[in-house]
Amino acid sequence: MKIAVLKERAAGETRVAASPETVKKFIALGNEFAVEAGAGASAAITDEAYAEAGASVADAKAVVKDADIVLGIQAPEVTLLKGAAKGAWVAALFDPFSKKDLVEAYAKAGFEALSMEFMPRITRAQSMDVLSSQSNLSGYKSVIHSADVYGRAFPMMMTAAGTVQAARCFIMGVGVAGLQAIATAKRLGAQVSATDVRSATKEQIQSLGAKAIFVEDVAGIEGEGSGGYATEMSDEYKAAQAKLVSEHIAKQDIVITTALIPGRAAPVLITDAQIATMKEGSVIFDLATAQGGNVEGSKPDEVVVKHGVKIIGYANTPAHLAADASALFARNHFNFLSAFWDKEAGKPELDDEIGDAVRLTKNGAVVNERLNG
Ligand code: NAI
Repeated sequence: MKIAVLKERAAGETRVAASPETVKKFIALGNEFAVEAGAGASAAITDEAYAEAGASVADAKAVVKDADIVLGIQAPEVTLLKGAAKGAWVAALFDPFSKKDLVEAYAKAGFEALSMEFMPRITRAQSMDVLSSQSNLSGYKSVIHSADVYGRAFPMMMTAAGTVQAARCFIMGVGVAGLQAIATAKRLGAQVSATDVRSATKEQIQSLGAKAIFVEDVAGIEGEGSGGYATEMSDEYKAAQAKLVSEHIAKQDIVITTALIPGRAAPVLITDAQIATMKEGSVIFDLATAQGGNVEGSKPDEVVVKHGVKIIGYANTPAHLAADASALFARNHFNFLSAFWDKEAGKPELDDEIGDAVRLTKNGAVVNERLNG
């Protein structure tokens, strides 16, 4: 099998879908590996490092020619894949709910699109889950960047010139990113509190030494929620949550929002009126800006100042930690394909629930039930 990795074309994308480590591992499985020249440059991986690992380094056309599998961070346009083997597999982020035309184009071209964001949340697939590996880094970066923008210190400091108060940091949405944000803010010495709609997160928040702020009078989502995901909440819950947040947020210095609902715009958790109650100089980091935002008025890659509060958020947070994000993404790709490797056939056989979950297109048609349903 020939496996190919192209340089990412999307604006602001700094990651790369293979590392020298995964190139070696794929070659050890009996494959040929080709990487486009310069593909790893923004993730601190040189062409020489890929070549030393055994990859051939060439231009895009040569890399794609006769490729059986193309690995990506964000799925390339179909035109870039001209010359790939018939029915080639492309494993990457497809953003399938928003990019229906891209998915259709893959079907039309006869490629098999494997959507890494549709990896099911089952124990067996944890090491293949790019949403987890990337969200973890995003949660960390959201706190580090907020600490940089905030004009005060995070930890309490008792100095000869007087005491510096600890920052109060509130995390909204305690999934993978939120948990890492709590841990990072705690390590920096902030006083941390957090909230979520899923009741299972309460214990997780407390076990990290943070204070759990929960809506008590209206039922949220019992336990983990379906597949670990939240759903859209009732109007009654939203009203109770807004009241609770309004009371809490006025006392916070840093707020990190991470709330997402699969296939939908991110829920708005902080309104302009709530921002107005916050202290001058506070910082809100909206990790959901690219999905529409959890904060009224937040804009990807812009610093919006409202009522003296800085509202920030990256369009692509993991791209700001390109080396680590690439290394983990590349391992997710390897863990995924190698788990299905049929040594005799010399290729992966993807015929179980994981295959059904991630496969978007096959034999010229869109086959995923989440898209066709
Ligand atoms: P996510 O990125 O979909 O959402 C982030 C968080 O926002 C979630 O905790 C969600 O409950 C919360 N949220 C949604 N709407 C909200 C609202 N209106 N107000 C407050 N919070 C709201 O979630 P993520 O980070 O991908 O993970 C969620 C769960 O799935 C976690 O418990 C995680 O452990 C589990 N998981 C399991 C995996 C596996 O078993 N393979 C892999 C990845 C995650």
